Amino acid sequence: MNILVVGGGGREHTIVWKIAQSPKVEKIYCAPGNGGIAELAECVDIKATDIDAMVQFAKERQIDLVMVAPDDPLVLGMVDAMEAAGIRAFGPRKNAAIIEGSKVFSKELMKKYNIPTAAYEVFTDSASAIDYVKRQNSFPAVIKAEGLALGKGVIIAQDLEEAVTGIRSIMDDKQFGDSGNRIVIEEYLQGPEVSVLAFTDGKTVVPMVSAQDHKRAYDNDEGLNTGGMGTFSPSRLYTDDIAAECMDNIFLPTIKAMQQEGRPFKGVLYFGLMMTKNGVKVIEYNARFGDPETQVVLPRLKTDLVEIMEAIIDERLDTVNIEWDDNAAVCVVLASGGYPTKYQTGYEIKGLETAKDNIIVFHAGTKRQDGKIVTAGGRVLGVTAVSATLDQAIADAYKAVESISFQDMHYRKDIGIKKYN
Ligand code: AMP
Ligand code: GLY
Repeated sequence: MNILVVGGGGREHTIVWKIAQSPKVEKIYCAPGNGGIAELAECVDIKATDIDAMVQFAKERQIDLVMVAPDDPLVLGMVDAMEAAGIRAFGPRKNAAIIEGSKVFSKELMKKYNIPTAAYEVFTDSASAIDYVKRQNSFPAVIKAEGLALGKGVIIAQDLEEAVTGIRSIMDDKQFGDSGNRIVIEEYLQGPEVSVLAFTDGKTVVPMVSAQDHKRAYDNDEGLNTGGMGTFSPSRLYTDDIAAECMDNIFLPTIKAMQQEGRPFKGVLYFGLMMTKNGVKVIEYNARFGDPETQVVLPRLKTDLVEIMEAIIDERLDTVNIEWDDNAAVCVVLASGGYPTKYQTGYEIKGLETAKDNIIVFHAGTKRQDGKIVTAGGRVLGVTAVSATLDQAIADAYKAVESISFQDMHYRKDIGIKKYN
């Protein structure tokens, strides 16, 4: 098969790495790809959101399967466009990707189908939103832009002033463009967060192994929110009992709800969960593999990913036996100094060749330049170790990190060791 993977971050490197192990695969393309992906796939200079160019390329190269990894092309309808052109594509159609693309849609879905989530109200203008937080006078207040906002559309306001500033910047100053035309204000929940990604063909749902991420920039969860500074799998908190509770109260009801709404979800559905005193609740849905969750989940998958993707497209996921290794994985993200705000790029990365055995270095923001690999983004690399236990994976990942370097490299030293959160 010829396979095209859409995207160019650490998640896509992991997906390409896994697909490359499939005996079914002859050639992999990745658009736009990155410096590490280029070792396994032919990188194509097409933006992940350029639907017309992507369809054109897939037709020209007779691609047998297009894997659409990032949120924005999914929400824009890239899978629909591929299908219309007669090309097999993996990922939800536009009418199902809305579960991530609109927080108003996902909250209304959960309310209608009794799926546990934070209580909420929707606002279409800043004056009534501000009036509401004043009347509620309950902080922290959680304010969310309706649409995609690069993971930055959520404000946890500690007081009225922060809430007012947040509402105005989203709704009046349009910090996230049209994504902020409507906002959701919701109840503040407390508890540890776990990410569970699931394969689903719209009827059958098969959860993957659990993961937890570290979103803040610095150790002990200090500093700004980032795209993710590291992950580990499995979560120590996601027991078999909790998994059963989630299957009954969240996973199956969500798949059925999407079916009943005439929006069957085919692809990977990501459940962002919070374990509260009152049970597990949904914090968010994503319509795709998570980044950097994928970097610790797929290395534990024994089954051929291409076989799973084909079964999902053909709606026969129930015929595939999906198996996982009984081990653990930790991914430490190496970021550019200054990330998630201002940072420099173009620095040479040294020590990449030392990765071996149970260590995989996934590239996020890198490119090839004059025969060297240089930094090209905020998050540069994800160093994953796969070991028998979490403690061993933590030790192995950090040992591997020691041999890699670039100017102003920054990473957290506590990935994998948060026990409660
Ligand atoms: P989201 O983009 O919806 O996942 O939100 C980003 C982060 O904000 C989550 O991972 C949580 O840590 C936090 N968050 C979102 N919603 C709530 C809530 N209702 N209560 C407390 N924290 C929240
Ligand atoms: N790691 C969070 C996400 O992929 O949205």
